[in-house]
Amino acid sequence: MFENLQALPEDPILGLMATFRADTAALKIDLGVGVYKDENGKTPVLRAVRAAEQAVLADQQTKTYLGPAGNEQFNALIAAMVLGSKHPVVTSGRVRALQAPGGCGALRMGAELLTVGGTRPTVHVSDPTWSNHVPLLSGAGLKLERYPYFEARTGTVRFDAMLEHLNTLPAGDVVLLHGCCHNPTGADLSLDQWRKVADVLVQRRLVPYVDIAYQGLGEGLEADAEGARLIAATVPEALIAVSCSKNFGLYRERVGALMVLAESNLQTDATASHARKIARGIWSMPPDHGAAIVARILSDSKLTEDWRNEVDAMRNRMLSLRRALSAALAKTCSAEMASVIEKQRGMFSTIPVTPEAVDILREQHHIYMTRDGRMNIAGVSMEHIDYLAKAIGSVA
Ligand code: LMR
Repeated sequence: MFENLQALPEDPILGLMATFRADTAALKIDLGVGVYKDENGKTPVLRAVRAAEQAVLADQQTKTYLGPAGNEQFNALIAAMVLGSKHPVVTSGRVRALQAPGGCGALRMGAELLTVGGTRPTVHVSDPTWSNHVPLLSGAGLKLERYPYFEARTGTVRFDAMLEHLNTLPAGDVVLLHGCCHNPTGADLSLDQWRKVADVLVQRRLVPYVDIAYQGLGEGLEADAEGARLIAATVPEALIAVSCSKNFGLYRERVGALMVLAESNLQTDATASHARKIARGIWSMPPDHGAAIVARILSDSKLTEDWRNEVDAMRNRMLSLRRALSAALAKTCSAEMASVIEKQRGMFSTIPVTPEAVDILREQHHIYMTRDGRMNIAGVSMEHIDYLAKAIGSVA
């Protein structure tokens, strides 16, 4: 059965993790996978997570099944975290969250859900988008197309082209939007641009699918959710995939949620029942531990406050790195390249370098980034900013 299978190339992001680990150079810089690192290059367990984890373990009375939607307390708290507890779709019950194994699990569950209504819509993703969006969405049998999004030279959103393109799409198609901290570019929509997008979605009866995986790491926990909140308040139907990997640092615990929003509470309940059926047919039930930690943090005001402070600290470190790298690049590259880094937000920036230049950075300077020029800002320490800027300057 397997005799015809050829070995596949490694995943463009995860493969880089292994290559980096195998590099024995004394000075090497990992700007590859989207994982937060502190000034010592470590990805620590957050204080609030450690405290909540201990409390969960101390209090846990049973390991019995929870059900395909996972931890319902987590689900309610995550809807409130993303949309705000006073958001009309939350207070009216028009939105339902279902726990999923990570943001990836949520994205896949949502993609499967898009196939059960009998229409099998095309999903339009930004050009470029996170490389794993493609298998996660097309794996459910959905056709993917791209809308213009990023101008590499200036590092900004091609908003007019994006809007013009959205205005050509047929009713019922789905538009995937990055809630904040666009992956891979770091170029986000302004609130005014979100408003214009929301208007087009309503006029053309397009369905938004918001992927929010970096809430808190761009401008702040509330500001980063403004786009998703606006969309949820404006459109009749939407999907929102949430990840707790980055803002809770729970990467390997696989914690995420899919939120479904339909025209009425009744319709939301019906849609959620399909999502539960999909979960049952793939992973049956999501793993408990990480979601129990998040629920503990978000239901305890002291833990919530500590966690918010930790998220603020991660974001502020990335903003300082952006400023420092931008200043250093101003001396080694074009002014444009330097200003791009400072303008963008979140963990990633995409810089205008060729795949061959990225290879030289890896092979000669031990600097690792994906071949599309995406770099994880959190992967560099202040100490190595000048080294990085010089190396980029030598290939850009
Ligand atoms: C990334 O974009 O690097 C992260 O979201 C990790 C992943 O799964 O690709």
